[in-house]
Amino acid sequence: MCGIFGYVNYLVEKTRGEIENTLLDGMQRLEYRGYDSAGLAIDGDKENEVLLFKEVGKVAALRKLIKTSSADVNKTFVSHVGIAHTRWATHGPPSPLNAHPHSSDVTNEFVIVHNGIITNYRELKALLVSKGFVFQTDTDTECIAKLCKYVYDINNHRDLDFTELAKLVLIELQGAYGLLIKSVHFPNEVIATRKGSPLLIGVKTDKKLKVDFVDVEFPDFPEITVEPAAAVSSATGPSLLVPLAGSDLRRSQSRAFISDDGVPMQAEFFLASDPSAVVEHTKKVLYLEDDDIAHIYDGELHIHRVRREEGQSTIRSIQTLEIELNEIMKGNFDHFMQKEIFEQPDSVINTMRGRIDFENKIVTLGGLSAYLNTIRRCRRIIMVACGTSFHSCMATRAIFEELTEIPIVVELASDFLDRRSPVFRDDTCIFVSQSGETADTMLALQYCIERGALTVGIVNSVGSSISRQTNCGVHINAGPEIGVASTKAYTSQYVALVMMALSLSDDRISKRARRHEIIDGLGKISKQIEEVLALNDQIKEMAETSLVNQKSLLLLGRGYQFATALEGALKIKEISYMHSEGVLAGELKHGVLALVDEDLPIIVLATKDSLFPKVMSAVEQVIARSGNPIIICNKDENAFSKLKTTYRTLEVPATVDCLQGLLNVIPLQLMSYWLAVKKGFDVDFPRNLAKAVTVE
Ligand code: UD1
Ligand code: M6R
Repeated sequence: MCGIFGYVNYLVEKTRGEIENTLLDGMQRLEYRGYDSAGLAIDGDKENEVLLFKEVGKVAALRKLIKTSSADVNKTFVSHVGIAHTRWATHGPPSPLNAHPHSSDVTNEFVIVHNGIITNYRELKALLVSKGFVFQTDTDTECIAKLCKYVYDINNHRDLDFTELAKLVLIELQGAYGLLIKSVHFPNEVIATRKGSPLLIGVKTDKKLKVDFVDVEFPDFPEITVEPAAAVSSATGPSLLVPLAGSDLRRSQSRAFISDDGVPMQAEFFLASDPSAVVEHTKKVLYLEDDDIAHIYDGELHIHRVRREEGQSTIRSIQTLEIELNEIMKGNFDHFMQKEIFEQPDSVINTMRGRIDFENKIVTLGGLSAYLNTIRRCRRIIMVACGTSFHSCMATRAIFEELTEIPIVVELASDFLDRRSPVFRDDTCIFVSQSGETADTMLALQYCIERGALTVGIVNSVGSSISRQTNCGVHINAGPEIGVASTKAYTSQYVALVMMALSLSDDRISKRARRHEIIDGLGKISKQIEEVLALNDQIKEMAETSLVNQKSLLLLGRGYQFATALEGALKIKEISYMHSEGVLAGELKHGVLALVDEDLPIIVLATKDSLFPKVMSAVEQVIARSGNPIIICNKDENAFSKLKTTYRTLEVPATVDCLQGLLNVIPLQLMSYWLAVKKGFDVDFPRNLAKAVTVE
């Protein structure tokens, strides 16, 4: 979830401190996307000096690092370009070196920030290494910075302008990018370009813009526009020289920025991968299209393209954003929680992406591979977590036991610590946490580290404390979760834990058929989640008409569905403030049954698995006490038709028993959501609760 932010001031005097703060605040706006390190580039005190600051962790850590710099924060810049980036590691782990901006050389002649992936970086790197460039990082991005310098150096005698240089560089890149380039050779200028990765430019001027669009500029000599230097892939030495006739040094004027009185217009530009970083400065934004090369200099924004294409628009409009920050981040949804519930078909795929080969039925968890044998040999696995994360452990414990045949203990972190539970060197302790910062879970991790156990994290936030302090682990890659009520992190933790169990058991022939069944089930789960989400209207109606005025609600489940009952109950109490309780169906007769009457709403999780007959018996017990249950069951289940009572059903598709909880929990997430909305509560920020509970 990388983020780009750039800030250009032209004839608007700013101190270095102000520029730094603008960049840092912009990055902070992108924080919700999740990232593991951050960095920025600004001008130094000397001519041709560029300062780079990069730090692992949050923007706050980068801010702290910058404070330690000796660069004078009061130095003023009339015009200046600063670029910044929040990185979510892809090529190479989070580290200051791997963080952006990346640099062409030790003197930072070219510095760049990049979102996306350069697929031919190995070839480019080989070429550049053969030309004497020394690479410092594990990233694909670094090759772009070095390529800029290489192209600049071999064309230096030709007075190449920044756009022409960018064209020569971009033509060599394969893959996806959103890119900002800053260079000491083109002071106070910046190139912004994109292909398959969003980038927009916010514009703020002291005078009204002449027109609300920017012309797209095409080369004067389209027939000789540059083509990729074929030599790059063979690394034998390219001809990355700009064709002479195409070397057009004429600088056009951008109509929008012409002032009547001939006095140059003061201007500020905010470049970002996401409008949320821009709207607080200006509502006037221009969205770049793929292959647009934006060149900002002298307070003007120009947009170039390498070639003219039939039917393509020759202008880019400067739009006025009507939406507020929160709305942008929420997309078309009313709340983050709602957005996150509906993101689940995608987030579960992101959890599995690159990790499951569905055709050959192979699960590969890169973060665990070196530790699998040790885990297989351990004498027990202890899963430790809090809240929803604890429920994902509960939901997967049985399949873990079945596939690995290792004893599994599931612990609430606080209780585990309270008991000072014995932990040994040959234990494997799994810490499950969305935020990776939950204090109780962290303390339990410390406790297990001290006792020499192998520690494994199942974490959403890359770069979080748990992710960093565990021996190994799996990032669930669900994307940032903002709603305090955890939804998509639950389903992704669940999928990650199932994948871990599959991985641990892939050496067992006896488990092969079962493993294949589960992998096939995972392959279909995203589509099935979509089907369940289609129940939204039915659930909304149910919540608004018959549940909203109730004081209490019971959820019954057993086997795999006990965890679903607990998680559903937690969601409902957390955001709708209604008392709700997840009850193990087998425990009903041991006390809870006393609560049941014709008024108490009861939700029964009764999808088909080996325990179905027992769940049916719980339903009968409820009905015998005049209860009117809501039954979550599989489609076309007719076992209930004989029941002598009024009942309602919510029908979900059937999947493998151990994955059914992924589908069954979704109606409960939606129910809690609609209950809270109907009651007018703050869905995303329920009272008394915080997203990351960093206190004990
Ligand atoms: C890694 C990359 C991913 C890339 C993939 C391709 C990171 C963060 N992930 O994913 O972007 O697409 O390689 O090869 O760079 N870890 C812990 N504790 C945790 C979670 C993770 O120690 O709680 C460790 C893992 O053991 C691993 C590293 O962090 O060493 C990254 O974990 P993960 O993102 O799950 O690994 P990959 O799936 O290999
Ligand atoms: O970030 P973590 O997963 O460690 O958080 C654990 C709990 O605080 C969290 O799951 C909490 O229960 C949720 N808000 C429930 O929706």
